[in-house]
Amino acid sequence: HGDPRLRGISEAIRVVPDFPKPGIMFQDITTLLLDRKAFKDSVDIFVDRYRDMNISVVAGVEARGFMFGPPIALAIGAKFVPLRKPKKLPGEVISENYVLEYGTDCLEMHVGAVQPGERALVIDDLVATGGTLSAAINLLERVGADVVECACVIGLPKIKEERRLNGKPLYILVEPR
Ligand code: PRP
Repeated sequence: HGDPRLRGISEAIRVVPDFPKPGIMFQDITTLLLDRKAFKDSVDIFVDRYRDMNISVVAGVEARGFMFGPPIALAIGAKFVPLRKPKKLPGEVISENYVLEYGTDCLEMHVGAVQPGERALVIDDLVATGGTLSAAINLLERVGADVVECACVIGLPKIKEERRLNGKPLYILVEPR
């Protein structure tokens, strides 16, 4: 849509060819974090969208969902829950495996972090296949949470146009460059 802030956000993301493997155009959000206007604009857009949606949980996906989730959570008056890679969380966890292009991965969440009936927002930097966000949705639904929406800074055109993932609304700011 026509939000003039989106162009600055897109331009602040550095594209690194062939990282971490040949053929991958890596979308580096560390340069967005260095650009105070673009970083604030991206958080502000999410905060304006979610502040009146009665969201009590922002769940961020390791690692880059940890960079956008907490400022959004603080601004909308929600708690922050990290969804982590295996064997990082010290308490009792529930785990959700998901399929990658080569092999599988897993996200974990602390049991008791989210109560049944809580309204949750899932945040990450980027959605490609959607496998990671789907696992995040499953974790939250398994503990009885209501996933209101998933939000990402960057999404591939196809998934950006679909605007849904596993039946949940998906909100994306910009496409990869
Ligand atoms: C990247 C990205 C998302 C995920 C998206 O994380 O930050 O979490 O991949 O891919 P998908 O939509 O195909 O599932 P990565 O696996 O590189 O982990 P990291 O952030 O811990 O480095």
